[in-house]
Amino acid sequence: MKINKAVIPVAGLGTRFLPATKTVPKELLPIVDIPSIQYVVQEAVDSGIKEVIFVTGRGKDSIEDHFDVAPELDLVLEERGQTEMANTLKRIAEMIEIVSVRQKRPLGLGHAVFCARDLVGNEPFAVLLADDLIEAEVPCVRQLLEIFEEKNESVIALMKVPENEIHRYGVIKGNGISSRLYDVQDLVEKPAAKEAPSRLAIIGRYVLRPEIFSLLEKTSPGTGGEIQLTDGLLHLLEKRKLYGYEFVGERYDIGDKYGFVRATVAYALKRPDLREPVIAYLRSALNNE
Ligand code: UTP
Repeated sequence: MKINKAVIPVAGLGTRFLPATKTVPKELLPIVDIPSIQYVVQEAVDSGIKEVIFVTGRGKDSIEDHFDVAPELDLVLEERGQTEMANTLKRIAEMIEIVSVRQKRPLGLGHAVFCARDLVGNEPFAVLLADDLIEAEVPCVRQLLEIFEEKNESVIALMKVPENEIHRYGVIKGNGISSRLYDVQDLVEKPAAKEAPSRLAIIGRYVLRPEIFSLLEKTSPGTGGEIQLTDGLLHLLEKRKLYGYEFVGERYDIGDKYGFVRATVAYALKRPDLREPVIAYLRSALNNE
């Protein structure tokens, strides 16, 4: 079955980036000059998704505006002869069909996904968390979709993380099926290193069967008083198979300050206009340490 819809929850408060996120949604903080959410939407587009569903909250309207037309800006840019940028803005507005639904209170990621149930309907869908930027030859969601297309069961993206970081993630216990593919047996949210069933952490890309909605509805608040997606996935595991796939690519956790700086430097180094001056600056800054 072809998957056409992707849910991108953007209703979180972004407290780790305060005060920047007091008025600016964290999803619009730029990696150099492109808001991070644009990279995530691009991954969905490149994976063959046809419609993006944003789960938004108060103060997040500007995220939708970013993907809308801006005629007054187009006019000024055309008048000034900045046609290339005018075309870039048009391309962003035409990237993909976008709809949105409100999550009135930030009750957790599981609840945010649940808010999209009517817009998704009774079909499988992808979920992309905007905190994760993933560089990959085959877009990460596309990698998961290929497994879904074969197995017709939910698939989550996994990444091996060092022992001292495992307590920050949802972690799987699974049986290896083939290189990178696991049959998930259990999930543990933020385990202490000693109790972690593996070093395979769940990151922010999922392809889910629609049964998850009725299971999320029954899921009670867990860690932090929030309805966790991981708890919904545990219920799913009681009824159906769940696969985990160690995706191929590089992930930047931009919900975290260090990850954000790392992404900024990495993306700047890939830009022909910035690469050389950034390298020169980093060298001189390190020499002056
Ligand atoms: P985070 O746990 O990173 O929370 O959410 P946050 O509020 O965005 O950021 P911090 O931790 O306070 O700095 C993971 C993803 O789930 C979404 C967020 O927008 C983010 O993409 N989310 C989280 C919701 O949409 N609603 C929620 O109730 C919670």
